Formats: sequence, C-alpha cells, structure tokens
Amino acid sequence: MVNRLQNQHGGLLVRASLPLMTGMLPVVLLLAGAGCDSAGSSSARPPVSSAPVADDQAVTAAVNSFCGACHAVPSPDSFPRDDWYQEVQRGFDFYYRSGRKDLTVPVQSEIVRWYQSRAPELLPAAEAARR
Ligand code: HEC
Repeated sequence: MVNRLQNQHGGLLVRASLPLMTGMLPVVLLLAGAGCDSAGSSSARPPVSSAPVADDQAVTAAVNSFCGACHAVPSPDSFPRDDWYQEVQRGFDFYYRSGRKDLTVPVQSEIVRWYQSRAPELLPAAEAARR
C-alpha cells in the first residue's frame, strides 16, 4: 500500500539517499528506558548523554528545515513510536501535494527513524492507564 507512494517519489528520495542504514540502534535502546519523564517539556531534547551518531545531527537539521517549513516541528513525544511512520508519511504527502519545490526533500526512512528513536512506546496517558 505504501509502495505506490514510494515508487511515485522514488526518484527524489533515491537521489538524496545516504548509506545510513545502521547506527541508530543504540539510541533506540537508550531512549527505551527514558519514557517516564513525562509532560511539559515537549520541545526539550531527549536526555541522551552519549553523543549520537554524527549523521543524527544532519537528520535533526532536515527535520527542522523540512517539517518546520510548514508548521512548528512536531515533538517526537506527541505520538507513540508506532504512529510515526504514518505521521512522517503524511508530512511528505503534504509536501508533494502542495506543489512546492523549494524544500530539500530528506530521506523519508531517516526521518521516520529519527522520530521513532525519540518517541515513547506509549504516550504517558496510555502508560498510566495501563497500571
Ligand atoms: C508542505 C507542508 C508540510 C510539510 C513539509 C510537513 N507538513 Fe505536517 N502538516 C501539514 C499540514 C497542512 C498539516 C495540518 C493537517 C490537518 O490539520 O489535517 C500538518 C499536520 C501535521 C501533524 C499534525 C497531526 C496530524 O496528523 O494531523 C503532524 C504530526 C505533522 N504534520 C508532521 C509532519 C512531519 C513529521 C513532517 C516532516 C517529515 C511534516 N509534517 C512536514 C503540512 C506539512
């Protein structure tokens, strides 16, 4: 189902693609334990002490410039991890449908991974309801 879109925009995405398939796993694991730091600091950066891979900063910049071109950059903790694939997809869809050509289109999978590595598995409310 998603393939249709990816094919449609494949040219753009492939041109920008980087050999970035590895490297984020440690960040994901680190953040997995950090989800109880709830509400309030929606724009705060996650408290990761070890330096993220250098590429992470490039992806952060891409998130800020691409997603931030149309609206405030959504905070990773505004959706649970599993929702981010779809939210990022929507952002790209908005761009393609807008007819804009002025933004540098990032690699979609990197943006998804950037959000997923920072997002809580569940939002605090859902987490609390579980207990
Ligand atoms: C071309 C403009 C544009 C770009 C680029 C864009 N968005 Fe959006 N985004 C929108 C618009 C317009 C809405 C409002 C949609 C609505 O209210 O239904 C929106 C709403 C959202 C929402 C609100 C929740 C929702 O599902 O309605 C999220 C989250 C979001 N965008 C994430 C992103 C992310 C992540 C990126 C970067 C990958 C991104 N957007 C890039 C135009 C854009």
